[in-house]
Amino acid sequence: MTSSFTRDDEGRLTVGGLPLEDIAATHGTPLYVYSGDGIRADYRNFAAAVAPVDGKVHFALKANSALGVIALLASQGAGADIVSGGELQRALAAGVPAAKIVFSGVGKTTAEIGAALDAGIGQINAESAAEVEAISRIAATRGVVAPVALRVNVDVAPDTHAKISTGQRSTKFGVSISQNEAAALYRRLADDSHIRPAGLAVHIGSQICDLDPFERAYTALLEFSSALRGEGLPVPTLDLGGGIGVDYDAGTPTDFTDYGKLVSKVFYDSGFQIGFEPGRSIVANNGALLTRVIYIKDGDNKRFVIVDAAMNDLLRPTLYEAYHAVLPLAPTGALEGPADIVGPVCETGDYLAQDRMMPALAEGDGLAVMSAGAYGAVMASSYNSRPPAGEVMVLDGECHVLRRQRDIAELLAEEVIPVLS
Ligand SMILES: Cc1ncc(COP(=O)(O)O)c(C=O)c1O
Repeated sequence: MTSSFTRDDEGRLTVGGLPLEDIAATHGTPLYVYSGDGIRADYRNFAAAVAPVDGKVHFALKANSALGVIALLASQGAGADIVSGGELQRALAAGVPAAKIVFSGVGKTTAEIGAALDAGIGQINAESAAEVEAISRIAATRGVVAPVALRVNVDVAPDTHAKISTGQRSTKFGVSISQNEAAALYRRLADDSHIRPAGLAVHIGSQICDLDPFERAYTALLEFSSALRGEGLPVPTLDLGGGIGVDYDAGTPTDFTDYGKLVSKVFYDSGFQIGFEPGRSIVANNGALLTRVIYIKDGDNKRFVIVDAAMNDLLRPTLYEAYHAVLPLAPTGALEGPADIVGPVCETGDYLAQDRMMPALAEGDGLAVMSAGAYGAVMASSYNSRPPAGEVMVLDGECHVLRRQRDIAELLAEEVIPVLS
C-alpha cells in the first residue's frame, strides 16, 4: 500500500499532488497537514472490511476532532464516538446525525448526559453502576428513555503501551464480566423504565498490532452477551471499540482485511448489530506536522536540530516515547549522522525524535514529522505560551485551512487580570 505522503519526480515530499514545501510556505509552520483523500480511502477500506457483519462505524473523535475531518468522514457515512460534551458539540457542528453518535468515557457529568439526551444521541456507553443511576435519574427528569449500553471489562491485556491499554481489570474502564458484576448491572439496566438497553461495548486499548487480543476479547464478549440473551434480556448491539494499530515506521495505510475476517469469524450470523469505534487507524498515517529548522546546535556529544514545532504541538514522543519518522521536505541528500530533533520548549523531554540518522540540514529547512494525524493536534496545548500549530487538509487536489494558528493576542484575550490593590 502506498503512503498518502510521497516524493514526486523531483524528490519533493508531497501530499495529494501538492508539495509540502509550498504548503508550508503559504500557511507557515508549525502546521498539521492532513490527507483528506487518504482519510476518506482508509475510512472506506475499514467500512468495507466490516461490511459482512453490517458494521456501523463511529469514528473516535478523540484521535482527531478537526471539524473538517469529522465532516469529511460524516459525508462518507461515519458516525462519531465521543468522550465529552465538547466532542458532542463538535460532532453535531460537523453534521454527524445525533442518532449516529455514541458517548463513551468513565466520567460523564450531569450536564454532559443531559446534553446528550437533549440532542437525541444514539447510544451512551455506561461504565459503572453509579453512572447508570445518574443516566436513569437525568432521563427521568426529562421524561425520556435513554439508550444505554454497558461497557464491559473482559480482562484482556493487549501488547501495547501501558498508558493506552484499557482492557485489564486493573484499569478504570468498564464493568468486569467476572464475578457477575456486569450481568447484575445489565439486568438492573434492562429493568429501568427510563433506560432502553442498547447492548454491550468493549475497548481493550489502542495501537494493538496483533489480532490475538481482539479475538480473545470479542470471544469473551460474545459468550457473555449470548448468556444475557439466554436469560431473555434484550442485547441489540455489540460495540467492539477501536484500537487497531498502525505502522509508524513505514507510514503506510492499515490493511483492515484480517481484522474484518476476524470480526466475521466471531460475529457473522450472531444476530447482533455490530458497532466499531476506530480512531488512529483512519487518521494517523494521513497526517504530518510540518516544521522548520531554527538552529543546528552541535552539543558535546550529539547534534541537535532545533525546530519550530514542539511538545506543545505533538506530545506523543514526550508522553509515550512514541516513534515518528522525520523527513526533509526537500529532496534528500546522503545521510550525514545522528541528531535529536527538538523543539524550543524549556523541557529536556521536549523532543520529536531522538538519535535519528538525518541528511545535512540548514536553518530554514522544512521537515515533516510523519504519522501525526492521530492524537496529535487534539493533544496540543499552549505551554510556554506557544499557540498550537494550525491545521490544513488536502482533498481532491486542493488545500483547505481547517484551523489557523491562533496568535498570542488571542491567547492573552482569554485571560483576566484581577484588580490588584
Ligand atoms: C472507548 C474508546 N473507543 C475508541 C477509541 C479509539 O481507539 P483507536 O484510536 O486506537 O482506534 C478509544 C481510544 O482509546 C477509546 O477509548
